[in-house]
Amino acid sequence: MKLAADLESMFSAEKIAQRVRELGAQIERDYQGKDLVLLGVLKGSYIFISDLARAIDLPLSVDFIGLSSYGEATESSGVVKITSDLSRPIEEKHVLIVEDIVDTGLTMRYLLDNLATRHPASVKLVTLLHKPSRSRTRIRIDYLGFQIEDRFVVGYGLVAAEKYRNVPFIGELKHG
Ligand code: IMP
Ligand code: MG
Repeated sequence: MKLAADLESMFSAEKIAQRVRELGAQIERDYQGKDLVLLGVLKGSYIFISDLARAIDLPLSVDFIGLSSYGEATESSGVVKITSDLSRPIEEKHVLIVEDIVDTGLTMRYLLDNLATRHPASVKLVTLLHKPSRSRTRIRIDYLGFQIEDRFVVGYGLVAAEKYRNVPFIGELKHG
């Protein structure tokens, strides 16, 4: 059976590519002449960040941070641990966090607070997806791909139990 056979498409690969190009163009305009670091949150953002980086025609560096939430798998507990830290300091740098999805916002709240202690020149957030109905803390999203309803989505880096990460589109699990 095909990997994506039990998925209902929500955003096609073409639609995602189009939106990523638009976000890249916007970011390119905003970061002219600035020392930009794209900071990908592992592992969910790895496909998004690789496409987004190629849509920004500016010198930039790429780094990653691994975060994991304590507690059960499907709901963020808000208690976050760093499983893999940045490889370089971000002092005086313009940091753009690249996230796959902001759900409750608790992971982002932790990351924003943590990064602030490292004295970057600025910190902004680009997220491909946002579920505003699930929000539990106020997070400013500077660049947004798509807003979605309270649905669990997979593909394009996002998983359910480590599956579907390499599906080229974003979809929902079909029921039944
Ligand atoms: P938050 O802390 O509740 O905002 O959740 C953040 C993380 O939960 C995201 O970065 C994802 O890794 C994961 N997550 C939240 N919703 C989904 C979803 O619909 N599909 C896959 N992963 C999700
Ligand atoms: Mg994530």
